[in-house]
Amino acid sequence: MKKNLILTGMLGVGKSTIGRLLAIKLNLNFFDVDKIIEKEQGLLIKEIFETKGEDNFRAIEKKTSLKLLEKHSAVVALGGGAFMDKDIRNKVLKSSISFWLNASLQTLIDRASSSDKRPLLNNKNIGKKLSEIYENRKDIYCLANYKINCDKLSKTIIINEISKIYEQNRD
Ligand code: S3P
Repeated sequence: MKKNLILTGMLGVGKSTIGRLLAIKLNLNFFDVDKIIEKEQGLLIKEIFETKGEDNFRAIEKKTSLKLLEKHSAVVALGGGAFMDKDIRNKVLKSSISFWLNASLQTLIDRASSSDKRPLLNNKNIGKKLSEIYENRKDIYCLANYKINCDKLSKTIIINEISKIYEQNRD
């Protein structure tokens, strides 16, 4: 049974974009957990945070992520916080090849500043907030099978590197 390819990492690092391109290159199905949640709930992620609260969002995220992890040979972009959940993480580590897309704080700040769709960053000091989230999460992201430092790499190089590793290990 072929393993899934899972992307984790900070909000805004590029999991959705890289995941979509990887799926095209590898000719696999692509699932973006946040997009699936938005479709199923009929609400944007930030609206789910606003109307139902973060705890409810995390419960929905957990259910959706665990269900998707039942698949085989799929590319899955997790939400940035999903890998912090022990059950999601254990399932990923058991059934998939996982990649931590990492980037410097400055790159993350630049990306996040150009978007208003991330409810965890809707306060004024995006840099401070991102730095706190990164510090809290980095030791957990580190548990992913592979770490890709995306800062100085083009999308093409990132995709080539990940697909090469995946093809060598997916069976
Ligand atoms: C979150 C990241 C978001 C989304 C939600 C919470 C997080 O996904 O799931 O806003 O906790 O890091 P992206 O990583 O796709 O932005």
